[in-house]
Amino acid sequence: PALEKYVDPLPTPLTAIADTSVYPGADYYDITMRAGSWRFHRDLGPATVWGYWATNPHRPHRPIGMGYLGPTLEVTRDHPTVVKWRNHLPTTHLFQFVIDDIRGGNAQLTPTPPPPYKSEVPFPPDVNVWNVVHQHGGYTPPQSDGMPKQSYSPDGIHAESYSTLDPDRVKPNEAIYAYTNHDQSCQLWYHDHGMGMTSLNVYAGLAGLYTIRDPADDRLGLPSGEFEVPLILQDKTFNSDGTLAYTMTLQEGEDTPVVNGKAYPFLAVEPRRYRFRILNASNERFWRLRFETPRDVLPQPTLPFWLIGTDGGLRTPLRMLNFLISPAERYDLIVDFSQMPMGTSITLTNYHAPVHYPGMPGQGPEISEIMQFQVTKPLSGGGDESTPPEKLDLPAVTPFEPSPKMKRREWVVYQHQLFGTMTFNAVPFDAPSQDFVTTGTGEVWEYINPNHDAHPMHVHLINFQVLNRQPIDAAGYQEQYEKWIDGGRKAQDLPVLEDFITGPPIPPDPDEAVSLKDTFKSYPETVTRIVVPDFTPPTDLIASIPGSGAELPATYIHHCHLLEHEDDDLMRPWTIVQAAN
Ligand code: C2O
Repeated sequence: PALEKYVDPLPTPLTAIADTSVYPGADYYDITMRAGSWRFHRDLGPATVWGYWATNPHRPHRPIGMGYLGPTLEVTRDHPTVVKWRNHLPTTHLFQFVIDDIRGGNAQLTPTPPPPYKSEVPFPPDVNVWNVVHQHGGYTPPQSDGMPKQSYSPDGIHAESYSTLDPDRVKPNEAIYAYTNHDQSCQLWYHDHGMGMTSLNVYAGLAGLYTIRDPADDRLGLPSGEFEVPLILQDKTFNSDGTLAYTMTLQEGEDTPVVNGKAYPFLAVEPRRYRFRILNASNERFWRLRFETPRDVLPQPTLPFWLIGTDGGLRTPLRMLNFLISPAERYDLIVDFSQMPMGTSITLTNYHAPVHYPGMPGQGPEISEIMQFQVTKPLSGGGDESTPPEKLDLPAVTPFEPSPKMKRREWVVYQHQLFGTMTFNAVPFDAPSQDFVTTGTGEVWEYINPNHDAHPMHVHLINFQVLNRQPIDAAGYQEQYEKWIDGGRKAQDLPVLEDFITGPPIPPDPDEAVSLKDTFKSYPETVTRIVVPDFTPPTDLIASIPGSGAELPATYIHHCHLLEHEDDDLMRPWTIVQAAN
């Protein structure tokens, strides 16, 4: 039977409490990954889930968490954070049947193509659960970045690049990471990045919010406190007893929207402006979101709202009616309920966005309604004193202009024709870095996507801007690309992008133009160009963190944020090297 909608109040993740006594000059947190129990809906039984729990420095026996997801880390710009991430998960996976399938290579759930395309990093036979925490979108030294090869298991088995600060203070199933917080105020998040099993681990619940605050923002007059609400969007499939089913590759069951861990929740609101910080933490689902009002309330069926920030920080406000959000993107919105009569319910809906955008074989059923905002609370505190969005004095983002001298780097989204495995440039993730960027220089990265699907692409470490897109002759490109592979990868066979361009450059979408991004949509049959203005890490800032290691070369990664794609195997390293002087 269908779940009753809007009967569970929206939960808000609790905020972790820092201990300032452990590392002078830094906020310290002690966070444990463990299995727990969580009800996704009033009428669903408890489900075993995975989540993060933060030690409360004042009450060590009352950790902060809710079982599912993790507590929010609230940090201050340029004030470093140090976290001990403890792995106390079970040694058998919540979705062990998928691990067994990959290991058995029976190609039922995950196609396992032969070399050189069989590329996902194998995990040792005694490792069923492998975890590492990545702070998504921040300026982080590589030793603390939480890339897949830095994974460690609950029983203390380390992947090849495991690293930790202060090795003397950790057990084998722990790692201490440091974050510079050298970013603008922005909504980051942290999530599992376990080698080959990120999709399973995040689906089990391993994700949380990481909010960077800038005290200088206080003058802006943005809705704050209880009027600033994070919305973590996910989709889940439930077994009839309320436990989680992992069906990304099985195509059965029904997909249910979950916000902050509850299916179809409601939020009681006052007739005033709210700031919603939306994160798409789905494994694969794109959402096209809008705020629908009852017919008799507004002349138009949806409530207009203002976009005030993207992945990397605030931007010039933009009035919008709907937007497409891909996995890992964040949208910072002001929604004004002040004109809504008491008792009005506004429904957050998903409009024409199938599981994958714009569609992919085996997509799940459409989700149309997600959650409801019910104007049932009287206006408190003498009224709304937040700044109207059209009057917000937000710092303008500097456009990243590519200079003609900038190096262009091509990343081809290549899908193996027989096995379906995806790679960048037909090179497996496991192969050593071949891409070297130089400090003090910027580059234009061209993501050539000859597929029929959109992919959300995420680059670790840096912020970029979307420069433009151009349609390509996808079939022609793919054919020439396969000739290049089959012919032994000779330079003269490599398709020349310009020869396959079929139309003029298309400017970035209004919601991504002149915005700081760490994840963008690589549209199908399109080349999408992004500009990175400078790859120089702030080594002095990183070096100020004890033992963080600010040495170059430093290797990071970029990947598709469809989690099943990054596991298999649309992910590559890239390396920052020191410029010769
Ligand atoms: Cu949000 Cu490499 O990840």
